Parts: sequence; C-alpha cells; structure tokens
Amino acid sequence: MLLATCAALVAGSAWLVCATTARAAGPPAVQAAAVQAGTVQQYQHDVLPVLQENCLRCHGGMNRRAGYNMSTRTSAIAGGHHGVAIIPGRPDDSLLIKLIGPGPYPDDIKPMPLKGKLTDAEIATLRQWVAGGAVMDQ
Ligand code: HEC
Repeated sequence: MLLATCAALVAGSAWLVCATTARAAGPPAVQAAAVQAGTVQQYQHDVLPVLQENCLRCHGGMNRRAGYNMSTRTSAIAGGHHGVAIIPGRPDDSLLIKLIGPGPYPDDIKPMPLKGKLTDAEIATLRQWVAGGAVMDQ
C-alpha cells in the first residue's frame, strides 16, 4: 500500500517532488519524515555536514571513487559506475540510501561509507533529504 503526493517546487529550476506519505510497512524514519519538501538551508545546516564528514573525501572535489561525485545536485543524482544514485522523493528506490543502510544491502556494491557506518540520526537525515527532493545549493 503506497500513497504518493507530488508537489511542484521551484528551487533554482522547477522540478517535481513525489514523496511517500504513507507506507504500510515502511521504515519509521520515512513515516516520521512525512512529506516535507527540503530547503537549501536544511541542506547546508543538516545534510552537508554529514556528507563532509563521511562522504566527500571520496566523492567530492578531485576524488570520485566509483566515478561518483556528490559536489553538485546533478552529479549526486546521476551516480557513478552503477548508474543513478538518487531518485528525488523516493529514498527506498535510491541506491545511495540502500548503501548507507541500515540494510539489507545490495550484494554487488559495498555499503557506504566504505569504513564504519553512519549513525541512525545521520541515516535519517539523508533519507529525509532524499524524500524532500534532494535539494542542494549547487
Ligand atoms: C573511503 C572512501 C569512500 C567513502 C568515505 C565513501 N565512499 Fe562511496 N564509494 C567508495 C567506493 C570505493 C565505491 C565503489 C564500491 C563498490 O563498487 O563496491 C563507492 C560507491 C558509492 C556509491 C555507488 C556509486 C556507483 O555508481 O558505483 C554511492 C551512491 C556512494 N558510494 C555513496 C557514498 C556515500 C553517501 C558516502 C557517505 C555516507 C560514501 N559513499 C562514502 C568509496 C567511498
């Protein structure tokens, strides 16, 4: 059972956010996150620190492990060798979210970050960010 609402947003360019509002057996983080469209402020305040701390040293600037660069929204969505990493509004279908867990993980790619594991709060922050449209400032 899946209900989806779609809302048109303007954040630099117009795009469509479709976020899950109700899911019979969805993870609690998704239910708690509801359908809040993300903002650039939220990205800078909540999401960017998690990426800086855990991801960008391998997927930002000059480093593009697995061909994946998270420095811009376009490249963060496009993904690397395994294809599209983020489907805005659909965390459960996004490779990036599958790789940070809590699992089950895809068996053909290693869980992320390569070493260690994000905290539950950090996972919830990234899930909510993707659910809210994966808004970024560039
Ligand atoms: C120490 C380096 C390192 C860090 C830190 C790291 N990654 Fe990765 N990442 C990799 C490598 C290497 C691969 C390829 C793994 C594989 O193919 O099994 C990869 C693959 C990926 C992919 C799939 C790309 C593709 O299409 O092949 C995604 C998405 C991803 N990482 C997201 C993240 C996120 C989100 C974080 C932070 C939570 C993160 N990574 C932290 C090294 C890293």
